[in-house]
Amino acid sequence: MATTKQLIAQHIDLSIPTLGPATVPSPLGLSLVSDDGISDYTADDARVSVSSNGSDPDYAFQLAGARAFNFFKGDEVAAGIVTCGGLCPGMNNVIRGLVMQLWHAFGVRRIVGFRYGFRGLTPDTPDKPRFLTPDDVKDIHVQGGTVLGSSRGPQRPEVLVDTLQKLGINVLFCIGGDGSMRGALALYEEITRRGATIAIVGVPKTIDNDLPYIERTFGFDTAVSRAADAIKAAHVEAVGAPNGIGVVRLMGRHSGFIAASATLASGEVNLLLVPELPFDLEGERGVLSVIRQRIQRRGHCVVVVAEGAGQRHLEQSGERDASGNVKLSDIGVFLSRAIKQGLREDHISLKYIDPSYIVRAAPANAGDAIFCGQLAEEAVHAAMAGKTGMVMGLWLNRFTHVPLRAVCAGTKRIDLDSSFWRNTIEATGQPRKLTA
Ligand code: F6P
Repeated sequence: MATTKQLIAQHIDLSIPTLGPATVPSPLGLSLVSDDGISDYTADDARVSVSSNGSDPDYAFQLAGARAFNFFKGDEVAAGIVTCGGLCPGMNNVIRGLVMQLWHAFGVRRIVGFRYGFRGLTPDTPDKPRFLTPDDVKDIHVQGGTVLGSSRGPQRPEVLVDTLQKLGINVLFCIGGDGSMRGALALYEEITRRGATIAIVGVPKTIDNDLPYIERTFGFDTAVSRAADAIKAAHVEAVGAPNGIGVVRLMGRHSGFIAASATLASGEVNLLLVPELPFDLEGERGVLSVIRQRIQRRGHCVVVVAEGAGQRHLEQSGERDASGNVKLSDIGVFLSRAIKQGLREDHISLKYIDPSYIVRAAPANAGDAIFCGQLAEEAVHAAMAGKTGMVMGLWLNRFTHVPLRAVCAGTKRIDLDSSFWRNTIEATGQPRKLTA
């Protein structure tokens, strides 16, 4: 899969499709002039350049925000909401934010929540869609998970669009990560093929923070703080025993953002292994030697390993999950065994922590709660303006519209040449290369 850098070099089209001309005056009463003490509408041609140094000003994202003219009137809208993929902190905040904004800002009164992901849009689902009102969602943001339920796995887009058309849904908000955005793209393409007037707007959910062209996905910040707590515990255990070693395994299939960010947050990690960084076990530069040297020098060592790291050292089952992701072998267990075996003469005491689903079943922290509310609000503005085939993004700290096609064209991974990676190396003090 292409990385963000490669996608940017390819100049993937960033234009946002629309359902038609926006001619309906906004009911919001915002301002068209600056400095009058009233929030402004966002011009439809406002852009933020992809390159932070302005080297290519024409390659730019459409800015999100309230438009002075919309495509839909509130009373014409029947909105659907679906949450897909693995759980993630903030899903309920986004559902609540969408319902509140649709209802209160635009007077939308027909809002349905589909149950358990895209399968809730199939005709034979045992779990029928439910109507959502502000009263139904007012308290849900304090709970983890999603009140709608979620599931993995694609469904036939024709079947799903049949359901949308049968129910008269003309706006669908898809809350999900990479697999769900591929599903949303398939829906958008089927809708386009039929010439139907249905907006598909994604809200980027994943603790892995691995969607290209999007600086931050919701849930990531909360997952990082939970992961940092696990690292702190591993550190306490490691310093509490002679030659103590704490090994923490964290989620992150292709990208090590949670592991790297939690490493920075905790300040206690001595060796960080992420999928982007190849490493040897044995040899002078291998991780066993790095850990031994650290133990000899400081008497304890904290190792953090992301789930997708070092897979070449493990046997692969070749199995896939319902989303089509290859099921990974457990690097945490493998590494702990390898350390115990490799350092058996060093009298170590190793404690292994896998916080697993604890990092993602949590309710959103304050930072994510704010972010989820903003994403939801901007997603409603986008849908009301008739934008479609898009997902909400954040770029240079501005909310943006990103075409689903661009987001589905690659994956975001840690750039080992970046200052972010340098920060993590400096925080851990580990060698820059872990291979011969
Ligand atoms: O995609 C998010 C994620 O949390 C990954 O980091 C992890 O590999 C995966 O979900 C595990 O989810 P599940 O066990 O639900 O398939």
